[in-house]
Amino acid sequence: MDDQPALPLDTIHLGDCLDWLRSLPTGSVDLVVSSPPYNLGKEYEARVALDHYLQQQRAVLAECVRVLRHTGSLVWQVGAFADAGLLIPLDIRFFPILEDLGLLPRSRVVWARTHGLHGRRKFSCRHETLLWFTKSDNYAFDLDAVRVPQKYQNKRHYRGDRRGELSCNPAGKNPGDIWVFRNVKHNHEEQTVHPCQFPEDLIARVLLALTTDGAVVLDPYMGSGTVAVVAQELGRHYLGAETDPLYHEVALRRLAGTPDQGGRFPNLKTLRAFVALRGGGAEGYSFDVQVGARPTEQERSRIYPEEHHRQELEERLTYEEEHFTARWRGVPAPPPPHGQHDRPANTQHNGQASLFDD
Ligand SMILES: C[S@@+](CC[C@H](N)C(=O)[O-])C[C@H]1O[C@@H](n2cnc3c(N)ncnc32)[C@H](O)[C@@H]1O
Repeated sequence: MDDQPALPLDTIHLGDCLDWLRSLPTGSVDLVVSSPPYNLGKEYEARVALDHYLQQQRAVLAECVRVLRHTGSLVWQVGAFADAGLLIPLDIRFFPILEDLGLLPRSRVVWARTHGLHGRRKFSCRHETLLWFTKSDNYAFDLDAVRVPQKYQNKRHYRGDRRGELSCNPAGKNPGDIWVFRNVKHNHEEQTVHPCQFPEDLIARVLLALTTDGAVVLDPYMGSGTVAVVAQELGRHYLGAETDPLYHEVALRRLAGTPDQGGRFPNLKTLRAFVALRGGGAEGYSFDVQVGARPTEQERSRIYPEEHHRQELEERLTYEEEHFTARWRGVPAPPPPHGQHDRPANTQHNGQASLFDD
């Protein structure tokens, strides 16, 4: 008889993830997806702190690998460790740990942004990464569930046996490994009191591609519960842990989707979903990070599809590179992309030092 403990499906444990992971049955989870904390504290000299942190992460990852099924996947989302002007991209350090634990690398996704802290003595950091590893060669990958529009949807072969036939898949293309989902910051309807939430769309892409209906998805660092919220919405089971009681409560409130006794929701999205289902207006309701007296109207806080941000990023980067080329070659600079106005180069910012990272 199997005497392994039962999996606590659709729950979030309040407490440390390592002890909790040790209590879970071996080979029982289809996907682990998480963004671990990497605020490394001040108690050590930076390099020692980083080594110590990676040792702790290795212990957590070893448990994640143990609980993964043979067909399972792990996605670890990390940025960079920055200290006193140094920058160490964390995925470089995690990659060998994951390989050493017997996992097989599949994709390294760059999550690109246009905004962030401005470097003074190095290039500003404008991406984080998602490392996707599998436990074996037998793994789930549903490309059809995550296809995006082709750039030239109706392009056809213009010669040869297939002349006139569509030359690209009309169902869309592979989304590739550069993703541009907008960061959950001010004016994003998913924003809760948590400072670094996953955008729900990013997690939806991961879950749709790497799992099937009814799969079990684990996040050992649940934070505000984004992985659980998306799993619930897509018909997957979730489980995870979170040490901070405030964030744990936010996650449970997002999952419930109902207001507390004071009519408060954890974010604008939950409020809007509740009001849309119940009918009527938003009067009498509010959400945790609300700024004004009333919840913002739909047009002023909306989530655009990734394609919008992809196009915006492409236009912006193309413009910046053309501008750079024009400047050093001494030829006229191109106009900024539609709707964008540039300040002249070298304009001093208004002294808000917190906008700069070194
Ligand atoms: C980067 S955040 C995750 C945010 C999450 N992806 C979301 O969408 O809200 C990392 C979270 O791990 C939690 N945490 C830190 N150490 C932990 C531990 N040992 N066990 C469980 N959770 C922990 C922190 O409180 C923080 O909320």
